[in-house]
Amino acid sequence: MLIDDLNWRYATKKMDPAQPVPEGKVAAILDALRLAPTSSGLQPFEVFVVTDADTRAKLTAAAYGQSQLTDGSHVLVFAAWDNYTEARVDMVRDETGAARGGVTDQVKEYYQGLKDRLLGQTPAEDFEHAARQVYIALGVALVAAAEQKVDATPMEGFDPAQVDAVLGLADKGLKSVVVMPLGYRASEGDWLAGQVKVRRDPSQLFTRID
Ligand SMILES: Cc1cc2nc3c(=O)[nH]c(=O)nc-3n(C[C@H](O)[C@H](O)[C@H](O)COP(=O)(O)O)c2cc1C
Repeated sequence: MLIDDLNWRYATKKMDPAQPVPEGKVAAILDALRLAPTSSGLQPFEVFVVTDADTRAKLTAAAYGQSQLTDGSHVLVFAAWDNYTEARVDMVRDETGAARGGVTDQVKEYYQGLKDRLLGQTPAEDFEHAARQVYIALGVALVAAAEQKVDATPMEGFDPAQVDAVLGLADKGLKSVVVMPLGYRASEGDWLAGQVKVRRDPSQLFTRID
């Protein structure tokens, strides 16, 4: 049950370095992440899957020593496009056209409208918009990890400039947004393990207008 999976998961603080996540489970998480919806289907991000120990050690240093990045077996680094360009939007248009029987006039018109909107923005506005799409994928990845009974910790607690440098993201027109280590919770040493989940009361979160 989805609710059971969501109650099972928590932002794991201490992972067990002796238990790597099987590649099949990582693939299932990536499959789900890839299916996350995004604005106009742009998917304006890339996800780096890091297992290399040296790179993970550098990421830990960039994340103020958060040990899940080295104790877990895989680190997903979500990096958003640093701006929207004609070439990037056209790439999405052409791939969509190729998958759906051609870049018809209707398809061209839709993507022209999109470019008219997006290409007038500043790079900072572009990145903010792209980063919002990343968070949808992050949410889906967190749920998928829980379904796989794989522990995952969403992380914004890192210096983005350092992470960008470690992965050479600027050269790729990308900027790091959020990081997610995957692993298995350690049997001891995690102050959060076993703590009750705290969420705001439904009456504070939900307003029904019937
Ligand atoms: C966008 C985002 C960034 C977060 N950054 C960190 C982080 O850097 N380090 C960490 O240990 N937890 C981080 N968390 C975990 C949250 O503190 C945690 O999800 C929240 O308190 C709810 O608890 P739960 O996930 O255990 O249910 C982050 C969560 C989100 C969604």
